[in-house]
Formats: sequence, C-alpha cells, structure tokens
Amino acid sequence: MQCATEENLTDLALERWEACHSPRLRQIMQSLVKHLHSFVREVDLQEDEWLTAVNWLAKTGQLSSEKRHEFILLSDVLGISMLVDAINHRFPTGATPSTVMGPFHIEGSPELAMGADLAAGLAGEPCYVVGAIRDLDGKPIAGAKLDVWQADADGMYESQLGKKEPFLRAVFRTGPDGKYVIRTIAPPGYSIPMDGTVGDLMRETDISHYRPAHIHFYISAPGYQPLITHLFKKDARYIDSDVVFGVKEELIAEFKKQPAGKTPTGEVSSKPFYVVGYDFTLSK
Ligand code: BEZ
Ligand code: FE
Repeated sequence: MQCATEENLTDLALERWEACHSPRLRQIMQSLVKHLHSFVREVDLQEDEWLTAVNWLAKTGQLSSEKRHEFILLSDVLGISMLVDAINHRFPTGATPSTVMGPFHIEGSPELAMGADLAAGLAGEPCYVVGAIRDLDGKPIAGAKLDVWQADADGMYESQLGKKEPFLRAVFRTGPDGKYVIRTIAPPGYSIPMDGTVGDLMRETDISHYRPAHIHFYISAPGYQPLITHLFKKDARYIDSDVVFGVKEELIAEFKKQPAGKTPTGEVSSKPFYVVGYDFTLSK
C-alpha cells in the first residue's frame, strides 16, 4: 500500500484515473489533475481560499439555468471560449473567421423575408446590413441561412428582458445571387451580465466588463462549414478591450452614416441611417 504524501499525491491521483473507461476522458481528466495540482502547489493554496473557491463555484452552478449560463460567461471572460473556438475553427485563408457564440442565441427564430425589419419599429438608429454569402472562389451561395441576433438600443437581449415573443432575432435565407439585406437598429456596446458570480469576480479587478457594438450571425449552408461570428462596429468604444476577447480584425466593419433618403431596401428613411457592407465567405 502506498499512503499519500505531499510529494506523491499528484502521481497517486493520476494513477487512479488510469481506471477511466474512455481513453479521451482519461486523457482529459489526467491532464486536468496534473494542471490543477500544479496550480495548487504554485500558488500555495490556503484552506480559506480553497473554501471561497468551492463556494463560489457552487453559487455559479446554482445561478445557472436554461436562460442563463454563468459558467459559459466565466469561460468567456477567461478567454477559454475564444481559445476553444480558435482550436475548433481553423478555417482556410480567405474564409470569414468565427468568434464567440455568447449566451444570448435562441434557437428557432422566425424566418423573415430578405430586407424585413429585424427591429420591427424599436427605438434606435436605423441600420442596414448588406452583402453576400460567397464561397472561397467568390461564387454566391444560394439558400444560405443567416440566423441574426443582437442587443437593443439599451444593450439588452431578449432573454435578459424576459420577452415572450422573439425580440431582435430572425432567420433570413439567400436567393440564387447569395445576397442579403437586413434592416435593423444600430447595436450599442454593452456590459456583460454583472449581477452574478462572474460580476462579483470582475468587481475585484479593474478589467473592463464591456463588449464593443456588434451584431451576431450564425450562417449555414449545405456543404459548407457553419460560421458563428459577429460584425463589430469600426472605431466602437471597447473595440480594443472586449471583455470576452471576441474581436478579430477581419470582423470589423464600417457603419457608414447616410443622410435621410433612399435606403438599401428601396424605402425612404426620414432619419439618417447606417449602412454596413460586408460579404461573408464560407469554406467547404
Ligand atoms: C454576447 O455577445 O452576446 C456575449 C458574449 C459573451 C459573453 C456575454 C455576451
Ligand atoms: Fe452580443
């Protein structure tokens, strides 16, 4: 029998996980044990600190639900979500890069006709997003599905507002020319939810808890790699300090302010409006 000592505990724990049935889970758990033991040793973890951490984790779990996933938010602010995204979506050069999904996507958004108003009369600055979905050879992709969602002018998403009806989210489909045009309102930058355990942690720091203005897209088409991404507003506040590390150079788009008049959907706007031109490129 081998009794545990400070010196041999890591080896004992690693050996124990040899008994894990799945080779992949064994690999993951042994690596986790190795890194966690090393972390505990490196910071010389004190008992009160360990207790604070496990209580914080328990509270994080209690706070999580179908509508709110505080652990994903933790993963986001630690840069883990973007690292997992980078490892899993190594698209070829020329393809539009992916970025973090975030916690506010809702499945089953209503399908709207191209050019329909995503914001359906909500307060905000009118904004038209126009472009095409293409393949790496520049050929338009017909029948691509654009699942679009965004925050309102106050930086709030449907699930945060507890709306009963779909709110600032919709699905659009490209025709044979691969083109899309979406009418909406300009999104603002906003704070991530700060009323949970992640907020408690962030308040222990001077880290900015804001995201720069963006619109979310989940684009899919048969035979192509699905793309989960955002368009970020060029020169937006927080563009250099996104709390979830989501900004990529290729995803920054100019929101061009236009005077009142004819819009990309052919209607006439009595107010100035933004036009964002952006072509998405999918890989096979
Ligand atoms: C979002 O963009 O919706 C988001 C992403 C990560 C954390 C919080 C919000
Ligand atoms: Fe967002």
